[in-house]
Amino acid sequence: MELNNFWKTLPAPHFALAPMEDVTDTVFRELVAGTSAPGNLHVVFTEFMSVDGFLHEKGRDKAKHRLLVSEQERTVLKKNGIRIVAQIWGSDPEKFYRAARIIAGDDQFDGLDINMGCPVKKIVKHNACSALINVPETAREIVQATREGSGLPVSVKTRIGFNHVVTEEWITHLLEVRTAAIILHGRTQKMQSEGVADWNEVRKAVELRDTLQSDTQILGNGDVSSYADGLERARKYQADGVMVGRGIFHDPFFFAAVPQQGHQARLKLLQQHLERFNTQWGREKNFAILKRFFKIYVHSFDGAGEMRALLMDTRNCSEALQVIKEYNVHA
Ligand SMILES: Cc1cc2nc3c(=O)[nH]c(=O)nc-3n(C[C@H](O)[C@H](O)[C@H](O)COP(=O)(O)O)c2cc1C
Repeated sequence: MELNNFWKTLPAPHFALAPMEDVTDTVFRELVAGTSAPGNLHVVFTEFMSVDGFLHEKGRDKAKHRLLVSEQERTVLKKNGIRIVAQIWGSDPEKFYRAARIIAGDDQFDGLDINMGCPVKKIVKHNACSALINVPETAREIVQATREGSGLPVSVKTRIGFNHVVTEEWITHLLEVRTAAIILHGRTQKMQSEGVADWNEVRKAVELRDTLQSDTQILGNGDVSSYADGLERARKYQADGVMVGRGIFHDPFFFAAVPQQGHQARLKLLQQHLERFNTQWGREKNFAILKRFFKIYVHSFDGAGEMRALLMDTRNCSEALQVIKEYNVHA
């Protein structure tokens, strides 16, 4: 049984930054938490990490990157009262137990989350992530093993079904396992990221929770486009919380008191991002993963297109920083 279930202490509605591979590393989480207004962001998640990789000697270092929490990030999270959850994935309950024990031993995380939503075919093929929706008994064993191994509150991030919508059976099952929180993305595996997330299914999950008198927190996920939109969805669909993924791509100041800030503020954030990425990762991580961010920070001003093109041609953080410096000189 978990000792300290932080999920129960969060205000309603609460906001979480979604786990996103090659996006929400320690550097980006630090940046987002740093721009957040007090009380606007409550939980951040790591990128998903394979328990198989983590327990395997050769894959361990790469897997561990995913769970790295820098001192700088920890300081910002602490200052703003933001919790951090490590997300793990796999298919073997015993491996979850062993990985959970090690992860909790480091005392870095407030909770563990199990990925039961990733729809990617090569992962699903290994009976992991969204494939667990089709094998609820294994899913139950995984939640229990992770809880026993870690002593931390265990949440599940999942979808409303695999080929078709099975919210009622699937969520009832997760509620019976006494999952601390369920983050429900309103799409099936088959939908991948297509179509519209169905938040009526989120409301259905909340109603099931209420009927079963469970204290599991239910967070809705999918297509939240702004902070105001998140508040409105939580109200309309009665969710305890809201998880935001791609919304942060549309506005890196999503959680700030003043969202949608001007291009100078975005460029300053890009500069910070590059500097922190450089000192944090050096050559350990591929610089190319930063290219996704250029579109996020550099738009809506004269010369933005040219600047993006220059940035796309850079090969490392120093070159990218030089592009910003030259722009600032001529601006
Ligand atoms: C680039 C990218 C990487 C993602 N990586 C993860 C991941 O590591 N773990 C996870 O549970 N979901 C992952 N997701 C899914 C998101 O967490 C989220 O559930 C999905 O994008 C829907 O929410 P949104 O409409 O707010 O983006 C990823 C999504 C994107 C776009």
